[in-house]
Amino acid sequence: MKCVDDFRLRFGTEEYVPIMIGGMGVDISTSELALEAARLGGIGHISDAMVHDVADRKFDTSFIKDKTRQYKYNINNMDKAVVQFDLDKLAEATRLHVASTMQAKQGKGLIFVNCMEKLSMNAPKETLRVRLAAALDAGIDGITLSAGLHLGSFALMADHPRFREAKLGIIVSSVRALQLFLRKNAKLNRLPDYVIVEGPLAGGHLGFGLDDWQEYDLHTIMDEVIAYVREEGLNIPVIAAGGVFTGSDAVSFLEKGAAGVQVATRFTVTKECGLPDDVKQEYFKASEQDIEVNGVSPTGYPMRMLKNTPAIGSGIRPGCESYGYLLDASGQCSYINAYNREITLHPDAKDIKVMDKTCLCTHMRNFNCWTCGHYTYRLKDTTHKKADGSYQLLTAEHVFKDYQFSKNNEIALPARED
Ligand SMILES: Cc1cc2nc3c(=O)[nH]c(=O)nc-3n(C[C@H](O)[C@H](O)[C@H](O)COP(=O)(O)O)c2cc1C
Repeated sequence: MKCVDDFRLRFGTEEYVPIMIGGMGVDISTSELALEAARLGGIGHISDAMVHDVADRKFDTSFIKDKTRQYKYNINNMDKAVVQFDLDKLAEATRLHVASTMQAKQGKGLIFVNCMEKLSMNAPKETLRVRLAAALDAGIDGITLSAGLHLGSFALMADHPRFREAKLGIIVSSVRALQLFLRKNAKLNRLPDYVIVEGPLAGGHLGFGLDDWQEYDLHTIMDEVIAYVREEGLNIPVIAAGGVFTGSDAVSFLEKGAAGVQVATRFTVTKECGLPDDVKQEYFKASEQDIEVNGVSPTGYPMRMLKNTPAIGSGIRPGCESYGYLLDASGQCSYINAYNREITLHPDAKDIKVMDKTCLCTHMRNFNCWTCGHYTYRLKDTTHKKADGSYQLLTAEHVFKDYQFSKNNEIALPARED
C-alpha cells in the first residue's frame, strides 16, 4: 500500500510533498504553522483576514486602535457607510505580516496566503486589489483565492510584476465554478497554477447550500474536475480538500489523479495553531453531535462550527468601527440588521440574543467562533488523554509526518509528554 510520500505535487519542474495546510482565518493558521509545512517540504498558508489586528498583535502596531479612534463618533450609528479602510495602512499591515513570514522561511516548501473575497471591507474591489498587490510585493510564494468566485481577482493583479511568476490558485466546490472562473479570465492568458476542490466536510465557510451540502461528496466533485481539466488539455494540478483525515484518505485522492491534498482540521490541535489552548481542548472534546453547519455567518455562506461556540446567540454591538471586514460595498452587514431587529423587539432588555447571525469579525478576532471541520470529533483519537482529563497537544511536524508516511488508515500517536 502506498503512502503520501510516494507522490509529489509538481508545479512545472518543482516538486513538493503533496500536503498543503489550508488557510484558517484570523491567525488560526499562524505563520509558525505555515512555516512548519514549508520546512517539511510542503505548502503552508497564512491568511490575510483581519490583517490589521494580526499585525497589531505581532508587531505592536496600532492599526485597530487608530481606526477605532477615527470612527468612534459613529459607534451608535447603524449606518456604517463612512467606516472605510485606509488603503495605505491595509497595504502596510499586509506587507508586515507577509514579509515577516517569508523572512523566516526555511526548507524547500512554499508559503501561500489565503485571500477571501467575502472580506468585502466596505470597498470590495479597491481593498482586494491592495491586499493582493501587498502580498505579492512582500514576496509571498503564492495566493489562494477563497470564499467567493473571484471572477475579477486575476485582473486586479494583472499589472503586477509578479503576476505571471507567483503561484496563483483558486478554491472551488464545483466544476461549474472552475469553468466560470476560466471563462472570465481567458483573455488574461494566465491559467491558475493550481485548483483546490473543497468538499462539504471542510471547516470554515462552505461553497454549498445550507440545506443541500450533505448531498455532495468530495470524491465525486474531484472526479468531475479532474476529468474536465484533462478533457480541456489543461495542465493544472487539482488538490482535494475537506475531510482528508488520514494519510490513506489522502492516498485515495492521489491515486485517482489529485496532485495533492489540502488539510486543516488535524492541525487545529497543534501547538503552532493560533487557537488558544482552552479552545483546542473544546475541539478535542467535541462529539459528532456537537458539530453543526449553520447560517450565522454574515457572508451568506454556510459555516461549520461547534454548537457551543460563544459566537452563537451572542448579541454584541456590531464592531464595525474597529473591524468592519464584512461590510459590503454599501456599508451593510446582515449582522447589523439582525442586531437592530432584536434591539427594536426588546427595547428594555439589558442583554439581547441574536440567534440567526453573528458578529463574525469580533468573534473571530477573539477566537470565540469555533469553526471546525466535520471530522473534528475524531481529533481525540489522534493523541493521548492526560491524567487531568485534558488532551495532549500535538506538534505540526508530528501531524504533517503522519499524513506523509502513514498507511492502512493508521494514525500515529505522539510520544507521551506526561
Ligand atoms: C478552523 C478552520 C478555519 C478555516 N478558515 C478558513 C479560511 O479562513 N479561509 C478558507 O479558505 N478556508 C478556511 N478553512 C478551510 C481549510 O483551509 C481547509 O480547506 C479545509 O478545512 C480542509 O478540510 P479539513 O479541515 O477536513 O482537513 C478553515 C478550516 C478550519 C478547520
